[in-house]
Parts: sequence; structure tokens; C-alpha cells
Amino acid sequence: MEKKKVFSGIQPSGALTIGNYIGALKNFASLQDEYDCFYCIVDLHAITVPQIPKDLRKRSLDVLALYIASGINPEKSTLFIQSHVPAHSELSWVLSTITYMGQLNRMTQYKEKTKKSEENLNAGLFTYPILMASDILLYQADFVPVGDDQKQHLELARDLADRFNNRYSETFKVPEGLINKFGARIMSLQNPETKMSKSDDDENAYILLLDDSDTIRRKIKRAVTDSEGVVAYRDEQPGLKNLLNIYSVFSNEDVESIVRKYDGIGYGMFKEDLAEVVVEGLKPIREKYYQLTSSKDYLEDVYKKGAEKASYFSGKTLRKVYKKVGFIQRA
Ligand code: TYM
Repeated sequence: MEKKKVFSGIQPSGALTIGNYIGALKNFASLQDEYDCFYCIVDLHAITVPQIPKDLRKRSLDVLALYIASGINPEKSTLFIQSHVPAHSELSWVLSTITYMGQLNRMTQYKEKTKKSEENLNAGLFTYPILMASDILLYQADFVPVGDDQKQHLELARDLADRFNNRYSETFKVPEGLINKFGARIMSLQNPETKMSKSDDDENAYILLLDDSDTIRRKIKRAVTDSEGVVAYRDEQPGLKNLLNIYSVFSNEDVESIVRKYDGIGYGMFKEDLAEVVVEGLKPIREKYYQLTSSKDYLEDVYKKGAEKASYFSGKTLRKVYKKVGFIQRA
């Protein structure tokens, strides 16, 4: 029997945070035995905000190296760069003709972005979720592992799949999200009411996968908590709740037993231990990453093979789509 398919992508628009790792990347490797997985470096998405070309190239390779460093095996999963597979842009155009403006207007991520950077209101920012839907639908993905912030985009992908299928007959698999119960939304260390994000102006708000051990310790020490002085997992203590989620993910311990361990002990000790848990968890990834970035030929080989495989699968879907909408088959 054919394996079910998984698709996900990460933007190479900045160094990755532990939010990206916990919400998405950490799960990617664990899916690769059971499913046929496609993991993409979505550089087309990244240029919706201004990029320095040289940096974008470097960061795209960084994301590839981090995919592999976090345990994804390129022999099992398909790792590729979005711009190497033109079908993504091509399907995106077709899907844009069945997407309602009202749907795009309702996207909260777009609304937030427009609030922040008013001088960069380009059309790509607006149509971005259509490109994301194309990524997913081209591979007939059954499951899409993402963080909580991508839920609405995923809903659009499902909706477009349904709409296309209804209008032109069954073509796309309607995908489902795989969203963690814990850690689907890791919050800023400085303001636990907002999401941890690589684009935050305050670098103490996030931990990067490539932060060195002392930086990690310093950032956790400075993380905002509260004045209750009790290690507890509750909404009234959002800073602590976030740190407990991070602790739990990196230590594989459940939150209740962590809370019990720090019963009657102050935040200082808890934060020190948390820092060590994160440092230890990230060390092997960082080491592997540095090994990989010095093997440029290997990375090139991976993304070349990945693009070939991705082109094959996505090409099949795109040809079906072109035929159904009434384009003459290329002679
Ligand atoms: P991006 O690049 O912003 O983030 C990559 C993944 O990390 C998750 N994530 C988080 N999870 C938990 N807590 C956080 N603070 C946090 N910050 C980020 C995101 O939910 C995401 O899963 N549009 C997507 C990229 C994309 C994509 C796709 C994803 C393009 N095409 C197709 C899945 C399928 C994005 O901007 O993710």
C-alpha cells in the first residue's frame, strides 16, 4: 500500500527559533518512517518581505542543513527548495482564480503584517496563503505538521481543494493539519502574550537554534515571569506556562512532574535547570549543522535530488489541473 503523504515548509527569512523547532521541525523527523514526507524551504514565500539576496541564499542552505541536523534523513524524505520547482508558482496562479478576496482579507497574519510594515504592502503578502495552499495540494498531502499560527492558512488550503474538486471533479486530496497539543504556540520570552518570532526586534524575546550555550542561559535567565513565586502551570502565569512547555518538550517530561519537582523552590533554580535542558537539547543539532555547512557539495546533492523528486510528483498534479481547467496539452 502506498504511504500517506506529509508536506511542510519553513521560510528561510531569518535564523530559526525554538518556536519553529518545537511547533514544526521537531516533528518532521519523527514522521518520516510512517509517511512519504516532503519538506520544503519556501524561498518564494520569503521574498514577500525585503531580503538581501546574498543572505537569502545563505539562509536557504542553513534551513536545509537544519532540516538534516534535526534528524531528517534525505534518503527517506524529500528535501527541496521551493523556487527549484516551478509548479508551485504555476498552481498558485490557477488557485488564485478561485480564491475570494474576502477570504484573503480575513487572514489574521496578513492583517498583523500590514499593521506592522505599512510601507511594504505588496500583493505577494496578500496572496501568500494561495502559494502555501499550492505547496500542500501539489503533493496530495494527507497531513501538514505546523504550528498553531498556520491553522488559518491550512483552512484556506482545504477550502480551495474542496472548491476546485467541486468545480472540476476530484483532483486534490483535502489535507489535515498536524498540530501539537503542547508547544504549538511558543511565546516570546519577553512578552508571553505574543508569539515567539524570528522577526522580533528584541533578541531576548527568542532563542535561536544556533544560539551558543551562554546566550541561551542568559536569555532564559532574563525571561519574563511574574511575582507569584510559585512554579505552576496556569493561564494567569503565562510566562511560566510558556517556560514549562519548553522544558517539557526538551526534557520529554510531562508538565505535572516538572511542576512537582519545583514545588516550594523559586524560579531561579527552575530557570537554571531549564537552560541546561535547552542547551543539551540543541547541542547535537548545532554540532551537526556546523558539520553540514562545511559540506556544500553534499547539500547541493540533496537539494538537486529533492527537486527532481518533487518536480516529478508536483508535475503529475499540475498536468491534471491544467487539463481540467481547459488548457491545451503541450505538444
Ligand atoms: P514559518 O517559516 O513562519 O514557520 C515555520 C514553522 O514554525 C512554526 N512556528 C511556531 N510554532 C510554535 N511556536 C512559534 N512561536 C512558532 N513560530 C513559527 C510555524 O507554524 C510553521 O509551522 N507559511 C509558513 C511556511 C509555509 C508552509 C507551507 C508550511 C509555506 N508553505 C506549506 C506548511 C505547508 C510560514 O511562514 O512558516
